Amino acid sequence: MPKISDIERLTPTSLRDKFILPADGIYLNCANMSPLLKSVRAAGEVALGRRAAPWSITANDWFNDAELLRQLAARVFHSTENDIAFVPSVSYGLAVAAKNLKFSKKGNIVILENQYPSNYYVWHELARTHGLEMKTALRSTASSLTECLLATIDEQTRLVAIPNVHWMDGALVNLIQVRQRAKDVGAYFVLDLSQSLCALPISMKDVDPDFAVSVGYKWQVGPYGLAYLYVAPRHQGGEPLEYSWLTRRGAEDFTKLTEYTNEYKEGARRFDMGEFSQFHLLPMAIAAMRHILECGVEEINSTLTKLTARISDFKASANLTLPGYPSGGHIVGLPLEKLNAGRIKSNLQKENIIVSFRGTSIRVSPYLYNTLEEINAFLSCIER
Ligand SMILES: Cc1ncc(COP(=O)(O)O)c(C=O)c1O
Repeated sequence: MPKISDIERLTPTSLRDKFILPADGIYLNCANMSPLLKSVRAAGEVALGRRAAPWSITANDWFNDAELLRQLAARVFHSTENDIAFVPSVSYGLAVAAKNLKFSKKGNIVILENQYPSNYYVWHELARTHGLEMKTALRSTASSLTECLLATIDEQTRLVAIPNVHWMDGALVNLIQVRQRAKDVGAYFVLDLSQSLCALPISMKDVDPDFAVSVGYKWQVGPYGLAYLYVAPRHQGGEPLEYSWLTRRGAEDFTKLTEYTNEYKEGARRFDMGEFSQFHLLPMAIAAMRHILECGVEEINSTLTKLTARISDFKASANLTLPGYPSGGHIVGLPLEKLNAGRIKSNLQKENIIVSFRGTSIRVSPYLYNTLEEINAFLSCIER
């Protein structure tokens, strides 16, 4: 199997030139979908060329890129490559988790208020089929989302299924504290890291979730349709969602595929989606992960925090801070209820500044290609 050569660190100064950006606009919407790095697009174009010439694809090519990406992704999860599976979406990854959680007693499932729907419907269905109750940690005057969650988890909690930051405004959950509380009451712990993985450091060793899933096309700057699933070693003997031939031991030998076997490949590989060999997507995701590791997740977070701090300062001075929850640093939300949404939308449109309106917030999510001048241009649309 291939091994990654050492990744050299970049200094995240002028990374702007490395991305494909709008010619005459300001993109502050990485939480929706990241623009592509030129290197990721180039990898995709080469990959399409390879797919167009199947006579040059060898048996090993069905597995090698996946193994390389597993090694790279393990570095951002702070896990081993054996703990990573490839899935098409968060909803798929969480369906894998739901299939493998066992409940011997009635009780409740704790989620956050206004959690992303892929991290809601699956638990709603699980609660319905297992006679469990959904219990939502409501945003309150508590000092943080962490406090809201700690106050909601009780002795009846069987599962806590949450993100690291809220997708609408970047409010942070202290996963170490909530994890400890979940452990104390004997609850499973499942994470949707789509809005934080690769922009906010995390370690599976420290947080120890049962399952953690993330898309690959936001802060992970990769293609759409290839997501990451971390599976704790204690669940790696579980049941996959589908029974792909590619996940079985010995699948590399195409002459013996009908010598059927009950044995799977090592670790979390049994949970890989069917057709995980994704000849066009894997090389793009590899180029994306290389970029993340070259920059370093901590450095990415501190660079983005400097950009969002300008907006947080503005919020404080304009008295726009609703409960002053700590944030993950890379996403900032401005509460719509205190703003004139119509006027702001029209100002943003005139300047071609792209942000998201999500729930009760204007969500601003810059990345390494943005500058303080662009943040100032956004703020002038709010102030005008
Ligand atoms: C927090 C979060 N989870 C998951 C997703 C995507 O879920 P799926 O891969 O199921 O479409 C998004 C997309 O915006 C998201 O913000």
